[in-house]
Amino acid sequence: MSIESGKRPSESAAESCYLVMPQHANDSGIAFGGTIMAWIDMLAAIVARRHCEHEVVTVNIDSLSFIEPIMIGEHACLKASVNYVGRTSLEVGVKVFRECPYAKASSVATKAYLTFVALGEDRRPIPVPKLIPETPDEIRRFESAKHRVESRIKLRELLKTIHQ
Ligand SMILES: CC(C)(COP(=O)(O)OP(=O)(O)OC[C@H]1O[C@@H](n2cnc3c(N)ncnc32)[C@H](O)[C@@H]1OP(=O)(O)O)[C@@H](O)C(=O)NCCC(=O)NCCS
Repeated sequence: MSIESGKRPSESAAESCYLVMPQHANDSGIAFGGTIMAWIDMLAAIVARRHCEHEVVTVNIDSLSFIEPIMIGEHACLKASVNYVGRTSLEVGVKVFRECPYAKASSVATKAYLTFVALGEDRRPIPVPKLIPETPDEIRRFESAKHRVESRIKLRELLKTIHQ
């Protein structure tokens, strides 16, 4: 696959599902944020690796919101896809659905945006394949990710001046 030809988000999108067990939860029976974050990072990395067909590393996780708790005995179902691609980096969006298995009800419990960088053998960033968003949802995600990428660049610049 050439870098120029690009890939559709559906070519790398991935899903996973976990049954929340006592070892994933605190003493109130709510799944730990850190456990959910690890599941998010793992699935997003799979998506980024599929898109890049290369080693990737996480450089940033933001907009991580815990909207609803997920309780022991419920399912945590994750969906992830590439939203946006820069030169050597890409943004993957992940939504975590809280699924109550017997009620057949599902709602968004957590969501996050992760930025990965593709690395070459010298462990320096390398160009990533272009993204071809096709569906209205994919185009909407691409456009909103563009704004987040710009905001992250501005924030990094600002933080550099503050921490100098
Ligand atoms: C990934 C790494 C090699 C990038 O090095 P770097 O010198 O920052 O590289 P660059 O400045 O050329 O940035 C590379 C890309 O990443 C983006 N980037 C870098 N830091 C970022 C951040 N904090 N947030 C979002 N994007 C970031 C840049 O905008 C650039 O994107 P583009 O090429 O698409 O325009 C280096 O930051 C690193 O090794 N980080 C540690 C990664 C890690 O250990 N992760 C946890 C385990 S997976």
